[in-house]
Amino acid sequence: MKDIRAIILAAGEGTRMKSSRSKVLHQLFGKSIIEYGVDAVRKSGIREVHVVAGSNRQPLKALLGDHVNIVFQRERLGTGNAVERVYPLLKGFAGDLLVLAGDAPLIRAETLRQFRKQHAKGKAHASILTAELENPQGYGRILRDAENNVLGIREELDATPEEKQVREVNSSIYFFKSRELFEALKKIEPANRKGEYYLTDVIELFRKRSLIVKAYALARGKELLGINTRKDLAMAAKEVGRRNIEFQMAKGVTVVSPDTTYIESGVAIGPDTVIYPFTYIERDVKIGKNCRIGPFCKIRSGSRIKDGAVIGSFVEVVRSSVGENSLVKHLTYLGDATIGRDVNIGAGTVTANFDGKKKYRTRVGDKAFIGCDTVLIAPVSVGKGAKTGAGSVIPKRCNVPAKATVVGVPARLLERKRHRS
Ligand code: UD1
Ligand code: CA
Repeated sequence: MKDIRAIILAAGEGTRMKSSRSKVLHQLFGKSIIEYGVDAVRKSGIREVHVVAGSNRQPLKALLGDHVNIVFQRERLGTGNAVERVYPLLKGFAGDLLVLAGDAPLIRAETLRQFRKQHAKGKAHASILTAELENPQGYGRILRDAENNVLGIREELDATPEEKQVREVNSSIYFFKSRELFEALKKIEPANRKGEYYLTDVIELFRKRSLIVKAYALARGKELLGINTRKDLAMAAKEVGRRNIEFQMAKGVTVVSPDTTYIESGVAIGPDTVIYPFTYIERDVKIGKNCRIGPFCKIRSGSRIKDGAVIGSFVEVVRSSVGENSLVKHLTYLGDATIGRDVNIGAGTVTANFDGKKKYRTRVGDKAFIGCDTVLIAPVSVGKGAKTGAGSVIPKRCNVPAKATVVGVPARLLERKRHRS
C-alpha cells in the first residue's frame, strides 16, 4: 500500500461524560473506546499511527505504546491544533494522512478501506467521510453549493437555522494531502463559539485555494457515532454487543437469545456450541466446540472451556480451565482452577481461591467427582478419579490422592484404593 499514515485525536477531556477518567479509555465490552479506532485503522492496512493525547498520555502509552506513537497536546485548543502537534514528526512526509477522532469506536476497517479507495480515485486534496442522518444533532454539517461541491463544514454551535437543516454530517474521518493540510492549519483562527482551532475549518481554506475537496457518504448505521455522553456510550455498547454476537454466529455458534447474551470483544468460541440466555462472556475467553453455556452464567477473562464441556446455570468461572466433556452444571464458583476432563462438579461447589491477600490454584484431575456443596480451599488438589462427599470442605494444601474418597469438615479419607506393590 502507498505510504499512508494515520492521526487519531484523543486528547479531549470528554467533559460531557462527567468522568474523572479520560473519555477514550472508557470500556466497551472488554475494549476501550480508543482501541476500537486503533484496531480499525491498523486492520485497514495502515502501519504508522500517531495518537494525540493530553492529560491521558500516560495511560494511553501504557495501553497502546507498542503499536502507536503518542504525541502530546499540552492544551486542549481544538481538533485543528491537535493535528498540528503531529507536524514535527511528519516533516518531509508528502503522502496522504488519514485523520480520525478517537471517540468513534464503531467505524469498520472495511469502511476505511472503501473510503481510501474513493479518495485515491477522486484525486482530492481532502476527502471527508460523511453520513446522512435522520437526526444530525450534535454533528458538524457538510455545506455544499448548488452543484453539490463541498464548500465547508459548519459546527452545530455556529450553524444558522438553515444550515442546521442539513442532514449530511461530518464523521471526523478524513484523508488529507499532508503538505496542504499543514499549510492550511497554520491559517485557521479560533473564530467560533467555542474559541477552538477547528480542523473542520481547513475545508473552507482548501476551497479558497481551489484545492479539490470531496465527501463520501459511506458510513452506515451507527458507524460514525461519536461518544460524547454516557448515553452515546450505551448506544455504542449495544452496537458492539450486536456485532460480537453476529461474529460468533457466523462462526457456527448458536446464540439462543442475542438480546440477553453479552460477549465481549476478543472471545473465541467453537462451532456447535450453544449459548443460552443471560450469559456474560468476558474478553480473553476460549470455548471449544459442542459446549453448552448458560443460561445465567458468567465466564470471565482467562478461562478456557474445552470441547463438549457444560457450564450451566448460576455458574461463574474465572481464570480457570475446564477439560473436555466436564460438567459444571449448577450454582458453582470456579476461580483459578484447573479442571481435568470428564469431571463432574456438583451443585454448590466453590473454590475458595482468595485468602484476603493472594489467590491460589485448585487442581482437579480427570474423571474426578466433586460432590454437591464441596468447598475447595486453595491451594488444593484432587487426584484423578477421586471423589469428595456432599458438603465436604477440602482444607488448604490438601492433596486428595487419585481414586480416593474424602468426606466431612474438614475432609478426611473415607477409603483408599489398595495399591499393588
Ligand atoms: C467533531 C467535529 C464535528 C464532527 C464530530 C463527529 C470538529 C471541530 N468537529 O466534533 O464536525 O461532526 O466530531 O463526531 O472537529 N480532541 C483533541 N484535542 C482537542 C480537541 C479534541 O485531541 O483539542 C479530540 C477529542 O479527544 C475527540 C476528537 O478530537 O476524540 C473530537 O473532538 P470532540 O470535542 O469530541 O469533537 P465534536 O464536538 O464531537
Ligand atoms: Ca466527539
